[in-house]
Amino acid sequence: MQFGHFDDAAREYVITTPHTPYPWINYLGSEQFFSLLSHQAGGYSFYRDAKMRRLTRYRYNNVPTDAGGRYLYVNDGGDVWTPSWLPVKADLDHFETRHGLGYSTITGERGGLRVATTFLVPLGENAEVSKVVVTNTSDAAKSVKLFSYLEFCLWNASDDQTNYQRNLSIGEVEVEEATPSGGSAIYHRTEYRERRNHYAVSGVNEPGVGFDTDRDTFLGGPYASLAEAAVPRAGVAQNSVASGWYPIASHAHELELAPGESHALVYVLGYEENDETHKWADDAHQVINKEGAHALLERFATPAHVDAALERLREYWADLLSSYSVTSTDPKLDRMVNVWNQYQCMVTFNMSRSASFFETGIGRGMGFRDSNQDLLGFVHLVPERARERIIDIASTQLPDGSAYHQYQPLTKRGNDDVGSGFNDDPLWLIAGVAGYVKETGDVAILDEPVPFDNEPGSEVPLWEHLVRSLTFTRTHLGPHGLPLIGRADWNDCLNLNAFSTQPGESFQTTENRTDGQAESTFIAAQLVLYGEEFAGLAELRGLDDVAADARTFVADMRRTLLTAGWDGEWFLRAYDYFGNPVGTDASPEGKIWIEPQGFAVMAGVGVEPGEDGVSAATSPAVRALDAVAEHLGTPHGLVLQHPAYTTYRVELGEVSTYPPGYKENGGIFCHNNPWVVIAETVVGRGDLAFDHYRRIAPAYREEISEVHKLEPYVYAQMIAGKEASRAGEAKNSWLTGTAAWNFVAVSQHLLGVRPGFDGLVVDPQIGPDVPSFTVRRVLRGATYEIEVTNSGRRGSRAALVVDGVAIEGRTVPYAPAGSTVRIAATL
Ligand code: GLC
Ligand code: GLC
Repeated sequence: MQFGHFDDAAREYVITTPHTPYPWINYLGSEQFFSLLSHQAGGYSFYRDAKMRRLTRYRYNNVPTDAGGRYLYVNDGGDVWTPSWLPVKADLDHFETRHGLGYSTITGERGGLRVATTFLVPLGENAEVSKVVVTNTSDAAKSVKLFSYLEFCLWNASDDQTNYQRNLSIGEVEVEEATPSGGSAIYHRTEYRERRNHYAVSGVNEPGVGFDTDRDTFLGGPYASLAEAAVPRAGVAQNSVASGWYPIASHAHELELAPGESHALVYVLGYEENDETHKWADDAHQVINKEGAHALLERFATPAHVDAALERLREYWADLLSSYSVTSTDPKLDRMVNVWNQYQCMVTFNMSRSASFFETGIGRGMGFRDSNQDLLGFVHLVPERARERIIDIASTQLPDGSAYHQYQPLTKRGNDDVGSGFNDDPLWLIAGVAGYVKETGDVAILDEPVPFDNEPGSEVPLWEHLVRSLTFTRTHLGPHGLPLIGRADWNDCLNLNAFSTQPGESFQTTENRTDGQAESTFIAAQLVLYGEEFAGLAELRGLDDVAADARTFVADMRRTLLTAGWDGEWFLRAYDYFGNPVGTDASPEGKIWIEPQGFAVMAGVGVEPGEDGVSAATSPAVRALDAVAEHLGTPHGLVLQHPAYTTYRVELGEVSTYPPGYKENGGIFCHNNPWVVIAETVVGRGDLAFDHYRRIAPAYREEISEVHKLEPYVYAQMIAGKEASRAGEAKNSWLTGTAAWNFVAVSQHLLGVRPGFDGLVVDPQIGPDVPSFTVRRVLRGATYEIEVTNSGRRGSRAALVVDGVAIEGRTVPYAPAGSTVRIAATL
């Protein structure tokens, strides 16, 4: 069952009913100011940091869900409704939400009145701007009253929902009924009198007939819901001025509309900072200096200004998406690759794991591990921002090569909440930097001076940070020669030293057993893959002996993985604190885990028959992947391990806390499925790779939206696994490493076009279902037009003809900027 459809030409998803199984959201903003916006106008806005600078309030965990947003109440001759359906929930004759790239349009129509609101955060602005077009579609004249509504958050979102003894007394606003640009504005200035030098402005481009800034006045007392709001029902604004309690912004307007007539209004929610010395417009320090807000409102004084900003935003996205596009016979594949997967990569890059409808924006900052992986799917979009991010991340690294697990975007400092000790973290930095250098050829980044732990004076070249990452891993090996896991590896919930028995204790920060020797095959596989990348980077720096040394170590680790790390038919997952294997056929639960199978084969471990010392016809890699399909495969994707744990296992940690089939305990954790997709391409089974890809890709799940529940245009972190009672149901959409890794899997391995250190590799492996396709790739200033004729036969690899000349191998040397290279690939 579907609740909408893709509009591929417009690059929009069109939701045609408010009654989706969950709020389906979009993100506005790509630089500093961001908004979350559901298809029914719920969500909130913040400046840079969803915890420290929250502009508007949103109630997670509320009943009903999705409470809080920017709403527009309509009073049409006494009939009160909201075009976004929520919060009034009056039936609509027509409803449609179009989520586009950085903007959304929500349209509701009732009783011959159509209201269409387009929301966006214009490029270069710290503001959410919306254009509301009200059209009389009836054949009689109408007199319509409009009341906008949003509720301010008192800046620190965490404090905002905990410290009511203070908060309910500090709310302050200023009202400006006539702004210089001809509209009116409400200013949220809580704490501006003291240490805050920032304020929010809610403005509208035409003078209103009244306003409200006190929530209880607007709603009609503390027991009224948003649906019952008194002011829109009475049709008269009260001109209330908030003093403490709950400051809001509501602007009232009246429109007279002839049949067929439309009128447009512009609303702006902006964030402004003043420097300390220019905070006030008066000597008594009572009136905010509003210069910034006035200039902002002036820039959006007419609907045409909004149209122009939307046009610029569309051009910006068209340009961003032009560096990778495919044309194939499969429209679902094309829309994932050309639009939605890349779009989600931008959002995960911007948000990390901070703010979504599943992440409150107050929990986590930017993850070291997460942000490095997010880079892999983002770097081709805006390489300069990827570069800046790499420097920010590396600046939080500790001198011994280990890493803070997270940092706060506002301060860019490592965050002690979770501390360090996740032993996979250091190697992800190599992944991020290698991805960046392959994309851009900017080897100079390796010479960039970067501090440790943001300590001025500790700067060393970025290259030295990578050396320390690798050294940390090499010097933290356990009894079997595999890397020590520390608090956890990629799997946050595999806590082999935690031994936690106290409710509420964090599995990620607790290590009740010290001197743990627990080891991870995942980090071992990571070391093989990124040790090789490290060697490639070393060669670019002319450090051939360093490269050779790294490769020797990598070769040893490959052997270790196939001996101590091998269970007979697949890779083990770990050795626990006591030295017992985890992920072995010998145990009744958690026999086989996905992570090392995908990651080790992706790194090329075990791809030769007999590599495990057993002279079987089939390589260990293929046997491991066959075991994955057999034990972990489901119609909805591959589960993380099987069988799931049915009881709490103190020696394994959080992984065994989830009910079977959810999250890291037998859920389909979508982040690691693309590792298996890539692994299948490594062993030449494109058909199986593409099959795994399609099972979790949202566009392919659109028709089962009633099962999947979440947005059919972006990936979710998890889909409930086969042992869950709600198998196939997704949770935690948007902010997940799934976005970046699936883009890597599909663009670089299935379609097979990937930047290498010394050329563009063309090596498609997608199986017979996509018999031909073309990829257009813009890289380092040159354009590559690649035409693929694909038999899809297992084991066959592309033969390349470059500008009419057949070449050896599958690496096309980089062409000078400005040139166009035509590549024909046949397999
Ligand atoms: C979440 C975390 C990520 C972790 C994964 C598996 O997605 O953000 O860091 O690797 O869960 O536990
Ligand atoms: C990741 C995991 C989750 C765990 C969390 C801890 O998000 O997916 O299960 O609780 O990390 O930070």
